[in-house]
Amino acid sequence: MMIDFIACIYLLLAISETAPVSLPSNFKKSLHNSANKQKQTTPIKLDFDIVRHSVSSNNDDSALGIQHKNTRNVTSTDLLFELENEYSMYMATIQLGTPGQPIKVSLDTGSSDLWVPAEVETETKGNIYGTFNATKSKTYKKYKDNFKVTYGDLSSAIGEWGHDTISLNNITIPGLKFGYATKSSSAVSGVFGIGLKSNEASSWILRASDRGDIALSHKQLEELGMGGFYYDNYPLMLKQKGYVNKVGYSLYLNSSDSQSGSILFGAVDEAKYHDELKVLDLVNIDDTGSKVNTTVAFFVHLDEIAVDNATYINSNSSKESNSSSRYSALLDSGTSLIYAPDNIAKALQEKYATFDKVYKHPVCDCTQDGPDFKFQFEDKTINVPFLDLLFKVSETSNVCMFGIVSSKQDYFILGDAFLRLTYIYYDLEETQVAIAQARYTNESSIRVME
Ligand SMILES: *[C@@H]1O[C@H](CO)[C@@H](O)[C@H](O)[C@H]1NC(C)=O
Ligand SMILES: *[C@@H]1O[C@H](CO)[C@@H](O)[C@H](O)[C@H]1NC(C)=O
Ligand SMILES: *[C@@H]1O[C@H](CO)[C@@H](O)[C@H](O)[C@H]1NC(C)=O
Ligand SMILES: *[C@@H]1O[C@H](CO)[C@@H](O)[C@H](O)[C@H]1NC(C)=O
Ligand SMILES: *[C@@H]1O[C@H](CO)[C@@H](O)[C@H](O)[C@H]1NC(C)=O
Ligand SMILES: *[C@@H]1O[C@H](CO)[C@@H](O)[C@H](O)[C@H]1NC(C)=O
Ligand SMILES: *[C@@H]1O[C@H](CO)[C@@H](O)[C@H](O)[C@H]1NC(C)=O
Ligand SMILES: *[C@@H]1O[C@H](CO)[C@@H](O)[C@H](O)[C@H]1NC(C)=O
Repeated sequence: MMIDFIACIYLLLAISETAPVSLPSNFKKSLHNSANKQKQTTPIKLDFDIVRHSVSSNNDDSALGIQHKNTRNVTSTDLLFELENEYSMYMATIQLGTPGQPIKVSLDTGSSDLWVPAEVETETKGNIYGTFNATKSKTYKKYKDNFKVTYGDLSSAIGEWGHDTISLNNITIPGLKFGYATKSSSAVSGVFGIGLKSNEASSWILRASDRGDIALSHKQLEELGMGGFYYDNYPLMLKQKGYVNKVGYSLYLNSSDSQSGSILFGAVDEAKYHDELKVLDLVNIDDTGSKVNTTVAFFVHLDEIAVDNATYINSNSSKESNSSSRYSALLDSGTSLIYAPDNIAKALQEKYATFDKVYKHPVCDCTQDGPDFKFQFEDKTINVPFLDLLFKVSETSNVCMFGIVSSKQDYFILGDAFLRLTYIYYDLEETQVAIAQARYTNESSIRVME
């Protein structure tokens, strides 16, 4: 029984890592209606530094955990590939506690909890991202035992649940719950998960019970001291405290050569995309591809990819078919590349890259341009120029990895190679997203969501 139970827990942990909340029902209307109520006036902008690594600059094992905050089960070949590759982390500085302790955390839309590493006496090299010492904070309170989060790459952090004051951009929110991690397999930095409430690490056991994977009710779990809980994470707290009208944020990863991007809570920057934002409903599946009865991740329907004159679609579907046969695609800023169902990945690799025996991956000549890849979502096209799909194997090399690889799943994972070209508003209240082709500019035209 114990073995089964543990196996079950591992399975659950592995699939419990992307979570969303919900978006406003008048979202479409609000997007096209600039009526100004005098509510929120100052946008809450969280700037982040884009930290790029490659094996040549950093092969510290501990750095590895952060880039895989995705739902994918990383295989050793993937690992080798991504190790050899350049990848990005989005590091933002928060102030935690009173007085505020500055800590750099890795932003993640694919998970839903903030956790920070605890300061430890034995720290030898010091942590360049900062650590948290609860004893030094006048406002820290322990909330519960047993904080644990496990990500798609099976990296994890363990400690206790606490609550304390968090401050960013002069917005101070008291009593935010977070993980105070005394142990983590990726000790480089903490993670600032801003995904859906339904995916909070604290609630996985409740969801398992709902699904019938665990034959214990919520009450029985509680009695056994194993009960889970839901809580208001950062995006929800911003609304609860009246700083935003809507629970949602816009993600702007900026161009591939830039050093910084930003997240705008409760608002969109209309200067940073072309045309109109297109609202897409989320698909209720989890990372095994199974239907679930609540939204846990930012999956949308992807109709096709068009390159040159060819289209790549679900072979079981046609233009006329309805949504049930369309592919699903996870928008995942914790992933660098684009992962496609095997047949599509293979077809594209054969046509646009050559398999390399040394790197064990499809590669291209970095200077050789190619056609645009057009990703079609209903009537919205996101155009990804060929060169944005290429990742240098090292600073000096002229060999580039081709950025579309097999997901070994029946869905796409659209990582940074795609997201950099996309401006996205994540509407956590209505569980929708709105997307448009990103426009790289320093101009700004902020519209607060009503
Ligand atoms: C991940 O993949 C490995 C190798 O295919 C497999 O043994 C393992 O069970 C998988 N883990 C999960 C959580 O799916
Ligand atoms: C945390 O802060 C307290 C109070 O300043 C200090 O005594 C303690 O050594 C610190 N802990 C670590 C691990 O540095
Ligand atoms: C935060 O407040 C301080 C002092 O009022 C001010 O100098 C600083 O510019 C503010 N920072 C932001 C990001 O608004
Ligand atoms: C999801 O399904 C479970 C079990 O079938 C049920 O207990 C739960 O209430 C459902 N949740 C929602 C949001 O419908
Ligand atoms: C985008 O990148 C450019 C160039 O690095 C930078 O000047 C600009 O501030 C960045 N925009 C945002 C919103 O971070
Ligand atoms: C695409 O189709 C058009 C019209 O049939 C043709 O002129 C063009 O050469 C084709 N392009 C490619 C890249 O095959
Ligand atoms: C949509 O697909 C489902 C499942 O294949 C099918 O039962 C249904 O009739 C289809 N609806 C339309 C309008 O084609
Ligand atoms: C934005 O401003 C920075 C610094 O002034 C500049 O380096 C960058 O090229 C600008 N970006 C765009 C897209 O104009």
